[in-house]
Amino acid sequence: MSLCSLLLLCLAATLSSGFVISSQYMWTKLILTHHWPSTFCTMEHCHPNISYWTLHGLWPDKGIMCNSSWHFNSSQIEDLLPDMEKSWPDLLHPSSTGFWKYEWHKHGTCAAKAESLNSQHKYFSKALELYHKLDLDSILKKFNIVPSENYYAFSQIEGVIENFYSVKPKIQCIHPSKNADAQILGQIEICFDPDFTLLDCEKQGDWDQPMAVDKTSGFSVCDHNMPVYYPPLP
Ligand SMILES: *[C@@H]1O[C@H](CO)[C@@H](O)[C@H](O)[C@H]1NC(C)=O
Ligand SMILES: *[C@@H]1O[C@H](CO)[C@@H](O)[C@H](O)[C@H]1NC(C)=O
Ligand SMILES: *[C@@H]1O[C@H](CO)[C@@H](O)[C@H](O)[C@H]1NC(C)=O
Repeated sequence: MSLCSLLLLCLAATLSSGFVISSQYMWTKLILTHHWPSTFCTMEHCHPNISYWTLHGLWPDKGIMCNSSWHFNSSQIEDLLPDMEKSWPDLLHPSSTGFWKYEWHKHGTCAAKAESLNSQHKYFSKALELYHKLDLDSILKKFNIVPSENYYAFSQIEGVIENFYSVKPKIQCIHPSKNADAQILGQIEICFDPDFTLLDCEKQGDWDQPMAVDKTSGFSVCDHNMPVYYPPLP
């Protein structure tokens, strides 16, 4: 091997390790997470009175709690509050801003590494904008996926979303006790690239497990072969 090609190899190795280091800090995908209030309240023992999909969060695929000194301040999103209360309600404490504060600290401060999301107003208004643009609740209704005592096949629900948006969502369920005959639909994630273009949530060969997955939420990816219960309000 010539000296020249050795040098090129070294250069390439240096560049690629530099790239790996910086890519650990910058996200490449945003996950818009919707949850179904009845299911959430089954887990958290609250009293759901909302019968539409609400926002859970807008999560970058890399990083959590990126800046603990960047405090949530609801007066910076004052103009958004009426929409926040409707679209992104705190199901446990309806009149509190605690859920938004939590999401800002955990995910927003990381999303804010991109210029397009580098303020609380930009972050929350973009989440609301994407939520309204997708209009997931209406799309499901339009294709006759509505809360029901009759179970759905998982492929019916996934099919409607994939066909309409032309990307793969990530759909999460509660897997109840061993003898239950259905899983309970809980959360639907739809993904975007940094330019806010729709993207498959699980890319082929996606070895990098997103840190944004809420390990504490009790949801896991739905079983493709088990019927799905989409619970109405109790
Ligand atoms: C649900 O109940 C809370 C208080 O318990 C109330 O603030 C909220 O407006 C209600 N939401 C709907 C859609 O009725
Ligand atoms: C963290 O947030 C504070 C307050 O907004 C800001 O002054 C600081 O530059 C941020 N630090 C980083 C590393 O982004
Ligand atoms: C919150 O934001 C408002 C508006 O920008 C500002 O006037 C106020 O000082 C901030 N409060 C805190 C505690 O940082």
